[in-house]
Amino acid sequence: MIGIPTINDMPYPSIGDLIYYLKGLHFNRTGERYAMTFGSMGGKGGAPAMIADELKTAGFTVTKTMEIVFVPDADELDQAFDAGLEMAKNIKK
Ligand SMILES: Cc1cc2nc3c(=O)[nH]c(=O)nc-3n(C[C@H](O)[C@H](O)[C@H](O)COP(=O)(O)O)c2cc1C
Repeated sequence: MIGIPTINDMPYPSIGDLIYYLKGLHFNRTGERYAMTFGSMGGKGGAPAMIADELKTAGFTVTKTMEIVFVPDADELDQAFDAGLEMAKNIKK
């Protein structure tokens, strides 16, 4: 699960290190790998979708991408909880 805000129309830069290494690893013996991305934004956002694309390129199945304006409301928190639950179920399969 990667939480990432949008800064200057791009993902917050420190995530670049992690993505760099994930793309270099091959996980040949780990089977299907699941990921989800989420983040806050103040403008038009986009970082969670961009990082989801990077994760797909690195071989992950991205089960959910969520983006919220600044602070999540109760409904968005419920959606985040459900997305986490769904991902945990996939991992346990
Ligand atoms: C320098 C700076 C640049 C930002 N650029 C963007 C942007 O390009 N697009 C966007 O949707 N939000 C932008 N934001 C808003 C951030 O995504 C938002 O502040 C971030 O999600 C963290 O939330 P917080 O400020 O409540 O901690 C920017 C915020 C800052 C401080």
